[in-house]
Amino acid sequence: MILEEIRSRRAIRRYQSRPVEPEKVEELLEAARLAPSPVDIQPFRALVVDDPEGLGVLRKAAYGWGACLTAPLIFVGSTLKSGSGRPFELPLGEEVAAMNVAVAVDHMTLQAVKLGLGTCWVHVFDREEVRAYFGLPAHMKVVVLLPTGYPAEFPGPRPRLESIRYRAEA
Ligand SMILES: Cc1cc2nc3c(=O)[nH]c(=O)nc-3n(C[C@H](O)[C@H](O)[C@H](O)COP(=O)(O)O)c2cc1C
Repeated sequence: MILEEIRSRRAIRRYQSRPVEPEKVEELLEAARLAPSPVDIQPFRALVVDDPEGLGVLRKAAYGWGACLTAPLIFVGSTLKSGSGRPFELPLGEEVAAMNVAVAVDHMTLQAVKLGLGTCWVHVFDREEVRAYFGLPAHMKVVVLLPTGYPAEFPGPRPRLESIRYRAEA
């Protein structure tokens, strides 16, 4: 039941050094691949970074602190602004691009829970450093880092609002 993964997912900021198995990396990519997108243009792309030099670049780009520091694997979540190769292309606004990445990355974070892995969304980082090192083209917008790995911390469920149902004032 997907609610179980939703309930137990937490932002994990400390990881074991144990590498993530390639089959699990593929399952996470599969979860993102199946995400919906406007008129199915499928603009989401993920770089898979697990080599020491690439991880070092991402840690520095993330200002040397936080979840990127110990993660043995970091996905760079990006969206193509054009050239996705689909027959139907939309001029992707910033908002739609962010939505696309959000839905794909959320699939990944939930599948990660199922696989015994932790993740943490990271939006505070230097996108230009990432673009320069990995040679990403101008039509690709770098949106988020997703450090991933076996957790070295096990926070309990975070209290949330009791209800998010909005009732307009009469
Ligand atoms: C869009 C988004 C951006 C986030 N950016 C960061 C970030 O830059 N650094 C970080 O440590 N956590 C980041 N987080 C994690 C949030 O701080 C975390 O999800 C929130 O405190 C709720 O905690 P939980 O994920 O454990 O339920 C981000 C989460 C989201 C959804």
